[in-house]
This record gives sequence, structure tokens and C-alpha cells, in this order.
Amino acid sequence: MSIVIAIDGPAGAGKSTIARRLAARLGYTYIDTGAMYRAVALWALRQSVDLSDMHRLDQLAQAAEIVLDSSRDRVILNAEDVTEAIRTPQVSSAASHVAAVSAVRSALVAKQRAFAETRNVVMEGRDIGTVVFPDARVKIFLDASAGERVRRRAAEDGADPASIASHISDRDRRDQTRGDSPLAQAPDAVYIDSSDLSLEEVEEEILKLVRARTANGKEHH
Ligand code: DC
Repeated sequence: MSIVIAIDGPAGAGKSTIARRLAARLGYTYIDTGAMYRAVALWALRQSVDLSDMHRLDQLAQAAEIVLDSSRDRVILNAEDVTEAIRTPQVSSAASHVAAVSAVRSALVAKQRAFAETRNVVMEGRDIGTVVFPDARVKIFLDASAGERVRRRAAEDGADPASIASHISDRDRRDQTRGDSPLAQAPDAVYIDSSDLSLEEVEEEILKLVRARTANGKEHH
């Protein structure tokens, strides 16, 4: 069995940065599951698929060939590099609609489980510790205050904080209230509020847990 480190939490809590650093430190593969929902959303937007058309969205999710090239940090959809294209506000919003469709989720969850069959992973998302890997070795629920999450996104994107705030709260509400696999903390996840912590402090806290629960993170499957 390979080792899974699951990192869940709301938008802008710092999951990607932390997950990427941890994976590099441990020599594990970093998997950004949000990028998969974004890739399906991008394809749907390009095909002008109605975001409430569950059948078409299911077809797209099943047909999508998504490659997460973690060594080069690129996201490939059907042989096209979409790393930048999936980061627009329009795709962010569409992704949270697409992610509410159960058939889309089951198609992508199957791909996520397959990724971890042969390698140790740090996997980031909303339902990794609750649904995708309920037996993950380490589960983190990474949170930050709403104000801090908006500040970080604004610093990253250079966008207007007021519009970021409304987009983030819309997305979180949709992600938390959907029927299938809503954003939630697993009962056995460790809650970390990163509002007043540096990146290094968050990383060290998680690494301590990983070391305690693995043979110093070096265990092999
Ligand atoms: O983490 P992100 O912002 O890139 O995620 C994009 C959308 O996909 C977001 O609205 C939540 C959704 N998502 C999800 O439902 N389950 C996951 N495991 C990852 C992301």
C-alpha cells in the first residue's frame, strides 16, 4: 500500500503551496485534484455545454484525458497544456458547478485512486480525507480566516479584493452545501488554522505528523 497524505480545506487556505512543498520534501507525488475539476470545466465551457447538463458533463469527465505532470507542474487535458487556461475566474466558478455533479465526481475519484496505486502521494482537494481516501495515513484540514484567504489570493492574482471575496464565498458555499462529497473535515483529520502561521510553520507541523505515522516518510509500498 502506498502512503497518502490528504489535504482538504476551503479555497485560498494555502493547500496547493503546502502540498507542493511537502511532496518535494518527502519525494512523494503532488496531486492537485482541483485541477481535474477545472480541466473538465474548461472543456465544458469550450464546448458550450450547459453546466446543468449532467449527462454531457458525465461524458466529458469520462472522456477527459487528464495528465498531472507533477515534476514540471503542468496540467494536460487531451494532450493540450491547460495549466494557465484553467486558472481564470470563469473556470474557477464553472469548476465548482461541475464538481457538484455526482457522475463527474465518480469519474474523477476513480482516476485519483488510480494515481495513488503505485506511488506515495500528497493529494489536495475537498473530499480526499472523507471520500477518496478515508484510510489516508495523514489527514489535514487546512483552514484560514476569510480575510486572510482573500488577502492571499489578492496578492497572488493582483485582482480586486472585493471581487475575490465574493467569488471565494460563492465557491465555498457551493462546495460546502452540495449533496455529494461536500467540503468537510474528516473526524480524524488534524485541523490547522494557517491564518497566523508562516508557510514553514505549517509545513513543519504536518511533517511532524507524517514522521510520526510513517517510517520517517521514507516507507515504500
Ligand atoms: O482547489 P480548486 O480551487 O482548484 O478547486 C476547483 C473546484 O473544484 C472547487 O470549486 C472545489 C472543487 N473540488 C472538489 O469539489 N473536490 C476536490 N477534491 C477538489 C476540488
